[in-house]
Amino acid sequence: MILLIDFGSQTTHLIARRVRELGSEVEIATPEVAVQKIRAEEIQGIILSGGPAAVFEKQSPTVNPEIFELGIPVLGICYGQQLMCHLLGGEVVAGRKREYGPAVVRQQATGDKRSLRPSGLRPQFLEGIPDEFTAWMSHGDQVIKIPEGFVTYGTTETIPHAIIANEKRKFYGIQFHPEVVHTEFGEQILKNFLEICGIKIKKQEIDGEFVENLIKNIRDSLGEEKAICALSGGVDSSVVALLVHKAIGKNLTSVYVDSGLMREGETETLRSVFQQHYKMNVDIVDAKKEFLKALKKVVDPEQKRKAIGKTFIEVFDNVAKKIYAKFLVQGTIYPDVIESAGSKHSQKIKSHHNVGGLPEEMNLILIEPLRNFYKDEVRKIGRILGLPDEIIERQPFPGPALAVRIIGEVTEEKLEILRKADKIVLEEIEKAGLGKKLWQYFAVFTGIKTTGVRGDQRFYGETIAIRAIEATDAMSASFAKLPYDLLDKISTRIVNEVPEVNRVVYDITNKPPATMEWE
Ligand code: XMP
Repeated sequence: MILLIDFGSQTTHLIARRVRELGSEVEIATPEVAVQKIRAEEIQGIILSGGPAAVFEKQSPTVNPEIFELGIPVLGICYGQQLMCHLLGGEVVAGRKREYGPAVVRQQATGDKRSLRPSGLRPQFLEGIPDEFTAWMSHGDQVIKIPEGFVTYGTTETIPHAIIANEKRKFYGIQFHPEVVHTEFGEQILKNFLEICGIKIKKQEIDGEFVENLIKNIRDSLGEEKAICALSGGVDSSVVALLVHKAIGKNLTSVYVDSGLMREGETETLRSVFQQHYKMNVDIVDAKKEFLKALKKVVDPEQKRKAIGKTFIEVFDNVAKKIYAKFLVQGTIYPDVIESAGSKHSQKIKSHHNVGGLPEEMNLILIEPLRNFYKDEVRKIGRILGLPDEIIERQPFPGPALAVRIIGEVTEEKLEILRKADKIVLEEIEKAGLGKKLWQYFAVFTGIKTTGVRGDQRFYGETIAIRAIEATDAMSASFAKLPYDLLDKISTRIVNEVPEVNRVVYDITNKPPATMEWE
């Protein structure tokens, strides 16, 4: 296994993904616990990630230099390279200018020529890498003096030490980012490093055989035991439930809590896909009353989230108690795993964001078969399992559901109005063929009443906002420039088909400063 020490790079997870794709296990750790992890697990190689800090500043993150005394190969990437140099006696300075984007790396050996391999060939680390290649840079500082025992193997126009190595100790440093697709031969460099670590490269393809193995592993881990799973109908929980169902059949009970806060048609889709088509053991719990009661008079968005989380746990706990399950299956995916603490495959429940913190006394063993995968990979697994597009391609939906799209107190009446308006937004955007281009598109019940006129009479009615967003991740987003005639159609349909509404507005705010959801 590779231990990836995270110094706060935007691409730490991408490094992990690349390593994993090459067939190695990888665990991300904070620098503070690195040595402890290396002692506890069988670590074959260490990667030091990039990061936003400067190694020569006082508060910058560092790592116990003991990691260089353990005889384990180390690869430092960007900040990781600078830190390795800093800790081993080299020198790092602030560059004259920051450098982002492509740069041409040229291989050459300078410094102590004697440490080159006798054949004069490149070190194993650079096997298969041409003399010149384009690499992606993103840094301000640079190494100006390498530590003793190191040799410089590559430079760029602005960087004297773009590739360095101490072959004897198996320490390697690169100033560029091999994990991003824009770096040519980035995968080859990582592959070379893994081979140096003694890891057998086996490129992982997600195909039928891979999914069969995944199912077999789950079956082997669960044996004849019973498991329970919270099925929300979202991509991750749907894929994980189906995987585990294929592994242990009726020994899995999937619990769908119908909170009454879901979009129109959710419960019916779930019933038809999972109960009727896959013949899964799905317990659909009608908890509408409990949720509405918990949300009564609650106006503050954070309080709403808390009330929903608490009610969810109570309902789920009640069902779980009746099932006598030993395992709890969750659809945690890789980006959810900030730092994997505890053992790799299972841990006792303490709290978890997906289910909102299940009580400890449930004493279930957690199983997270998707914790090594990214969303696109989870979708691929889902497709191989035969899940329909209406599940696989669905837009993200917040855990607290429509409750965070109703400003102010949530009531049954408001939910009803919102659901009708939301359905129209969905239908029209999908009819216009824009669904796949957008991250999310939905209606918001604003809680603002305005004056209108209907049939020559004054009509004081509700305002619905439309939100349509373009994004590639949840960090930033821009509002979608929907065609006016489409907005016209949506607005006309809403005011005609939802009698309580007399005004429709379009949210034209980007994220940041706004968030995607209104609450
Ligand atoms: P924001 O509103 O924070 O949303 O820009 C970013 C993405 O996350 C979704 N979202 C949530 N998902 N529980 C969730 O599981 C939540 O409490 C929650 N709040 C927002 C949101 O729909 C968007 O895709």
